[in-house]
Amino acid sequence: EALKGQISNLKAENEEALEALRIKYLSKKGEISELFSEFRSVPPEQKREFGQKLNELKTLATDKINTLRDSFKAKEKEAHKIDITRPAMPDEIGTRHPISLVRKEIIDIFSRLGFTLSEGPEVEDDWHVFSALNFAADHPARDMQDTFFINQDPDDVKRNIILRSHTSSVQVRTMERQQPPIRIICPGRVYRNEAITARAHCFFHQIEGLYIDKHVTFADLKQVLLYFAQELFGKDTKIRLRPSYFPFTEPSAEMDVSCMLCGGKGCGFCKHTGWVEILGCGMVDPNVLKASGIDPDVYSGYAFGLGIERITNLKYMVKDLRMFSENDVRFLDEFEAAH
Ligand code: PHE
Repeated sequence: EALKGQISNLKAENEEALEALRIKYLSKKGEISELFSEFRSVPPEQKREFGQKLNELKTLATDKINTLRDSFKAKEKEAHKIDITRPAMPDEIGTRHPISLVRKEIIDIFSRLGFTLSEGPEVEDDWHVFSALNFAADHPARDMQDTFFINQDPDDVKRNIILRSHTSSVQVRTMERQQPPIRIICPGRVYRNEAITARAHCFFHQIEGLYIDKHVTFADLKQVLLYFAQELFGKDTKIRLRPSYFPFTEPSAEMDVSCMLCGGKGCGFCKHTGWVEILGCGMVDPNVLKASGIDPDVYSGYAFGLGIERITNLKYMVKDLRMFSENDVRFLDEFEAAH
């Protein structure tokens, strides 16, 4: 009976104290277990009553200790309760990569002129990157210096598998699939085996364009490029075309735009010429049309190609190409405000 009174009044400050109580009363060597071992020496006529009392005592102690433990758990829960009314930690929302921003801007401009997107593989065969584009078998661009080889055939360059060095390969794939009119732009990553510096990288991004139809002339090309330059760099932008050479276009040209910093007056940025170069272009060589099954006596077309990194550098005055692929958020965050 005394034990009963004791147990009903049990209190514990914390979980350790509670555990000590459990050991004191309920463990194998605890006080209640001791009483159980006395059970054997109790006279038979009292065994029933004694047994009942003992069981009551054990239940009482177990219940008491469980109740105390539950109250601790409830307190702990209360302490860790999540306050759903508190304001959340703000999520950091990423920004668009500058290359993506400028790619989108360029695509939007050409979309307004009716160009549609065309994409193709980065791992290509020699045919789509070089042969179909009128590159002679000994053209230097096929050399180890420029091209990454996946599989190089020692006897026949035409069997090489390479990383594409320009997205003109996508133009070839489109011409093979489709008869004119063709009006596409081909954005994508390209690879060139160059040492990585502030001004060159082993990969970069291009957008190339192709328009083939009946009676397409150099004047069409010039007009489209002027529209493009003024949409991208502002209404006052002027363009100039300088004769150049590409195996797949004839005639070929490189296009300059009036310097976006000094407006053409001449400054350090444009090396005091008033002009900066932004793309290559020309009329598609008849050999290229023929190679893809398009009749050059019926159709003509123009093509152009530009590097997105180059345009981004000019728009945002980025001095080091490597910034684009280093994933430094301080650099990337700067473009949030720009758009
Ligand atoms: N393919 C050329 C390059 O990668 C660019 C270009 C495209 C030039 C179309 C003329 C016409 O440099």
